[in-house]
Amino acid sequence: MKIITSAEDMQKTVLALKRAGKRIGLVPTMGFLHEGHLSLVKLARQQADVVVLSIFVNPTQFGPNEDFSRYPRNFERDRTLCEAAGVDIVFTPTPEAMYPAGYSVYVEENALSKGLCGASRPGHFRGVLTVVAKLFNLTLPDVVVFGQKDAQQARLIQQMARDLNFSITIVLAPIIREADGLAMSSRNTYLSPAERREALGLQQALKTARRLYREGERDARRIIAAMQAGIEQIPSARVDYIAVVDLDMLQPVPQLNTPVLVALAVYIGKTRLIDNLTLPDDSLSNLPE
Ligand code: PAF
Repeated sequence: MKIITSAEDMQKTVLALKRAGKRIGLVPTMGFLHEGHLSLVKLARQQADVVVLSIFVNPTQFGPNEDFSRYPRNFERDRTLCEAAGVDIVFTPTPEAMYPAGYSVYVEENALSKGLCGASRPGHFRGVLTVVAKLFNLTLPDVVVFGQKDAQQARLIQQMARDLNFSITIVLAPIIREADGLAMSSRNTYLSPAERREALGLQQALKTARRLYREGERDARRIIAAMQAGIEQIPSARVDYIAVVDLDMLQPVPQLNTPVLVALAVYIGKTRLIDNLTLPDDSLSNLPE
């Protein structure tokens, strides 16, 4: 397994591979890898000859009061997991390599990025799309795998690929959950044991939505109210948003008569967690029964 830290080396390496006819698969990450990331590697492996996993805690996607400096990092552990998962190249650039002095170009999306996480994290998706566009140019992937857990991010990247003419296949991977159903996230490490138990409230809220839907409820307001009522029972929880949106433009819908995304962001103590469910086909959500 190769470790590449310079942007120039990354581009040179991948250009040589492409000249040799290799198909490149990219898994972009911020490191502190877990089973969710490794499931993305597995999917990339199935569709590419060479799998590149990038590890970069991207400063431009964190707000001034967010957790950039304390975001968990452990390169040695990540390296071992990547080796075991069969990653071919780990690309781990420095912030200076990605944003040299005088850096001034950003990718901004002006519709899908405004609601859900974009509403409470202004500038977040500008940072995400910018770094992902750069990673696309540096690794020249044929296929890129993103997790459904960050459903809005994945939808925005599809939109960017379409609007900026990146000829890349984007694969969506199902949410990977802990044995008790908590969606895996590097940020779960912030939770105290009590908060870890209370974090199950997110998936319980989604289960409420699914149960009501299966019973025939189609009114988004009633579904959101039932989810909210459940979360309000949790001492350490504070709702950032609960929303039912369409899958294309991510706009709130009043009725669940067409396919929808039920998404929520909830603070458990100081930790902001997200989770989601698609309906009627909930297969990407992997929500336990
Ligand atoms: O989902 C993530 O880990 C990040 O947002 C990404 C896509 C690697 C961009 O920094």
